[in-house]
Amino acid sequence: MDVVIKLPPRLSLAAHVFDLGLERIAMEAGDQCEFDMRSCRFGEPFAMLLFAKQAKELIRKHPQIAFFVRTTQSDFTRYAGHVGFFKFIGFDLGKAPNEAHGSQNYSPVRTFSLPKLIKQAADEPVGKHLTKYSSELAEVLCQSRDGAIFDLYEYCFREIMRNAAEHSRGNELVVFGQHWPAKSISEIVVFDDGVGVSENLYENEYIECATNRDALKFAILPGISGVSRDDRMNQDDKWGNSGFGLYVTSRFCSEAGLFRIISGNSGLTLAKGVQTEHSWSHSGTWIHLRFRTDQAASQVERINEIIEEGKSEFSGILREFPIQPSAASKLLASHFEKSDFA
Ligand SMILES: Nc1ncnc2c1ncn2[C@@H]1O[C@H](COP(=O)(O)OP(=O)(O)O)[C@@H](O)[C@H]1O
Ligand SMILES: [Mg+2]
Repeated sequence: MDVVIKLPPRLSLAAHVFDLGLERIAMEAGDQCEFDMRSCRFGEPFAMLLFAKQAKELIRKHPQIAFFVRTTQSDFTRYAGHVGFFKFIGFDLGKAPNEAHGSQNYSPVRTFSLPKLIKQAADEPVGKHLTKYSSELAEVLCQSRDGAIFDLYEYCFREIMRNAAEHSRGNELVVFGQHWPAKSISEIVVFDDGVGVSENLYENEYIECATNRDALKFAILPGISGVSRDDRMNQDDKWGNSGFGLYVTSRFCSEAGLFRIISGNSGLTLAKGVQTEHSWSHSGTWIHLRFRTDQAASQVERINEIIEEGKSEFSGILREFPIQPSAASKLLASHFEKSDFA
């Protein structure tokens, strides 16, 4: 075996994946490459999918190389196999994405063809069509079938899946979620392989946006949408693009745990009043949410305040036209203290 990539015992942080340096590995024709996963004991959706995506990319870039995965019998291997992780990368091990039924505590790796989703929705708004899937996810990740907390997260999951269908122009949407009952924490990752957020916001008439980094800050502002004003005028009242989807999801999830968006060559994490920027490069758009499931009542009470604050902030920022990146940063800084660049 010529190149061996040894994975760490935990796959739970972005650093666990980026430290492998997969994008820098050089291989020559005739080499073989092994992913040694025998030490892996624990994995979480975000880091697992980040690794899977990078491994897929490495394999795609080296069609002449034979890739292998080496595992051992362990809870991690069984779990990863069951949720469709290995087959998602391209290894013939475990179940395929979309194959397992999931469990009380996780929703396995699921892939959707975006053109197919849009076609299936036909005359129905794609958001409405996605409700079936967002409800299934909310049921597992909130551990409830109805009620205010279910409604809230069902809304967040639907909005981010909807964004991929409405704005990404990509081919594939991938979703994977897990609930940890002992910790009362849930995590979900949703990503697409589309054009990314900045591509949609560069042309927006309301804002002065020139970089990926600014685009992420603009996208989570209340009332900012990449859809033009003219197009929005003709949209359905309930299912139109109000520019509030990412605002509500980011404010709400960052209070309940963590909101992260990665698109182009930038990432932004909002968690517990702190914002962290990342220079992570990824095609398409990734959304990572993490939240506590045992503080439901106080979370639900906050939502109306967040929406009201958003409406008033929107009218405030609109006074300056077009809105400058500094105004977006200022508004973000009023809610989130800046941490060091990570
Ligand atoms: N997955 C995505 N791919 C590309 N652009 C996106 C994606 N998600 C969000 N965006 C951009 O961010 C903007 C803000 O998203 P959102 O707050 O949900 O507002 P809305 O969907 O109502 O326009 C979108 O209008 C779009 O331009
Ligand atoms: Mg939206």
